Amino acid sequence: MSQPGGTFDIVILGAGSGGYAAALRAAELNLSVALIDKAELGGTCLHRGCIPTKALLHAAEVADQTRESEQFGVKADLVGIDMAGVNAYKDGVVGRLYKGLQGLLKQPNITVVQGAGKLVAQDTVEVDGQRYTGRNVVLATGSYSRSLPGLEVDGQRVLTSEHALKLDRVPSSAIVLGGGVIGVEFASVWKSFGADVTILEALPRLVAAEDEEISKAVERAFRKRKINFKVGKPFEKVEHTENGVKAYLAGGETVEAEILLVAVGRGPTTKDLGYEQQGITLDRGFVITNERLHTGVGNIYAVGDIVPGLQLAHRGFQQGIFVAEEIAGKNPAVIDENGIPRVTYSDPEVASVGLTEARAKEQYGADKISTYNYNLGGNGKSQILKTAGFVKLVRVNDGPVVGVHMVGARMGELVGEAQLIYNWEAFPEEVAQLVHAHPTQNEALGEAFLALAGKPLHAHS
Ligand code: NAI
Repeated sequence: MSQPGGTFDIVILGAGSGGYAAALRAAELNLSVALIDKAELGGTCLHRGCIPTKALLHAAEVADQTRESEQFGVKADLVGIDMAGVNAYKDGVVGRLYKGLQGLLKQPNITVVQGAGKLVAQDTVEVDGQRYTGRNVVLATGSYSRSLPGLEVDGQRVLTSEHALKLDRVPSSAIVLGGGVIGVEFASVWKSFGADVTILEALPRLVAAEDEEISKAVERAFRKRKINFKVGKPFEKVEHTENGVKAYLAGGETVEAEILLVAVGRGPTTKDLGYEQQGITLDRGFVITNERLHTGVGNIYAVGDIVPGLQLAHRGFQQGIFVAEEIAGKNPAVIDENGIPRVTYSDPEVASVGLTEARAKEQYGADKISTYNYNLGGNGKSQILKTAGFVKLVRVNDGPVVGVHMVGARMGELVGEAQLIYNWEAFPEEVAQLVHAHPTQNEALGEAFLALAGKPLHAHS
């Protein structure tokens, strides 16, 4: 439905995590907003990303727990995966959240405009011939699944995550191209659902953006789960076979499977939207801004996946809030990218914030950095859950903790404390005074701080 256009305090192009967060915060600050999107409110994260994938991962966990119930003395048989049932559960979660979001955005200060927008002047977005003029403009058009030159995504045998989320069956076998976040999450789901999975990663390790020891632990766990992976070998091409696909790696090695998932990163959605014509600087498609997310053109800001950095929904939320407050003259604090928590919801989960050991050593000098690994073997709750893994702390000697890295079941839930510690620049000695409930997995963090403060409890120094 097209709206009649008009003038607003802020015109926001894109109603994903970054765009809708900007709209909600702006409305709280009594600014008038036009929020424009060609698809559903909520964007990639809600409809095609974070939420539906985490629902699949939870169903995968239920499958594994059923399969492995005997080790807890519970007798149950995993009869099979009913993908229609899994998808109904997943779509139900998305549907409820979508309804909630629509309700949140229904308010006098926000005009939702459904349609494809284009920046036609430094202060104007045009939608279906209607002009929406903003005293400020926020670009929040998000990202799309990238492919590789010559690798054709057909949605049948060669899929992106968007197709993979809609599969109506469990593939008998799958090749996952890319061992980053999307790659390991889908590999984890499909393996739990019973597929034979092989990950192909060009870099020397899985989840290569994480601390090296974390990658090793994930690889160890994946080997145990019989998830195949080949690292350090560039992918060359894929061919269709009678029943599926055949992938070729440099050096001539091949892998065959029913389907191939392309998970080699996400590109910014900035093409043909008028950005460059209005003088905005793009670098490989990403919108360049200063640290206050201003593009340097007119009153145009950018948030979310189109801004270089971590492509995470919660970064988008924070940037959206930041820009709304900036426009309202509240002078918000600049967002520290290193302080943004990162969670990969595979089994095992990976969660981190701050600098890896390698980056901390680069930044501060190797002799200025200490690390401590607390093994979940000593953590009661983790033993109850029968999970392996560890919590790794990176600290500046006689200074704050600058990195927290965790691997193991449910570690994502611990990242809240980890990010507070990083962002408050806490010293281990300070955190060691605080009490962690027993038995929780959270205690593993507490134990690591005790140990770094020189007074380990359930650990050796
Ligand atoms: P990614 O950047 O995490 O991983 C892509 C991987 O593909 C890299 O390891 C890269 O080395 C590899 N690759 C690239 N070209 C290759 C080639 N020719 N052959 C073999 N491997 C190749 O990107 P991904 O996993 O596609 O995710 C996209 C974005 O979505 C990420 O920025 C991620 O942060 C976000 N996301 C976040 C999630 C979370 O927070 N839990 C879940 C899923 C996605």
